[in-house]
Amino acid sequence: MKVVVTKSYDESCAYVADMICKLVNEKPNCKLGLATGGTPVPMYKKLIEANKAGKVDFSQVHTVNLDEYCGIPETHDQSYRYFMNTNLFDHINIDKANTYVAKGMGDAEANAAELEAKVREGGVADLQLLGIGNNGHIAFNEASDHLISVAHIEKLTESTINANARFFEKKEDVPTTAITMGMGDIMAAKCVVLIATGLAKTDAIKGLVMDNVITTQNPSSMLKMHENVVVVIDQELADAV
Ligand code: GLP
Repeated sequence: MKVVVTKSYDESCAYVADMICKLVNEKPNCKLGLATGGTPVPMYKKLIEANKAGKVDFSQVHTVNLDEYCGIPETHDQSYRYFMNTNLFDHINIDKANTYVAKGMGDAEANAAELEAKVREGGVADLQLLGIGNNGHIAFNEASDHLISVAHIEKLTESTINANARFFEKKEDVPTTAITMGMGDIMAAKCVVLIATGLAKTDAIKGLVMDNVITTQNPSSMLKMHENVVVVIDQELADAV
């Protein structure tokens, strides 16, 4: 595992955006695993700027997103499809037909099976981007006494619902279940890049980069078993860890 400590969150975003641009330039038809949450938003802005400046071409890139809330349509402003369109896809020269975010509506089991198929379609991701939850969850694989390897429906924990309530009008509006890639799906990616900022992530990052322990109580700790992981944190978070 490579841990990169940057001076600032902005620098972390620039570092990750550069990695992605480099990959796309080397392999124009690469497959990217993408993430939502507040953390990657400024990084996506940098990808938009690079695309507008002609420094990177997304026209042949394929993407698959980690997860999606159950029970809200893609037109809902908190759906992850809406998030991806407004924060990235609408502003770059990607072919939206080459982007996949799991469906939040309809038969959830079938939607999870479709996500699983998309993870494998055309080969595994060249790069999987990740954020991290306060409790160490990655995608929506929640801290638990067991983890699931394939795409599945996950019941969100109180900690995750509380953390994500800031995006909704009220806590009661936060969906309580989601479709998520499983741990095996994430581990299958050729390279995993996790970006984190903010002191709320201190314990989660400690479990990821400091302890030599792998535990289902901090799902991110599984990444210790992956041979090509880059964790990008800023100095403020590194000092707290
Ligand atoms: C959600 C997403 C995760 C994300 C996490 C942290 O639960 N499913 O993929 O990493 O939130 O989000 P934030 O970056 O807003 O702290």
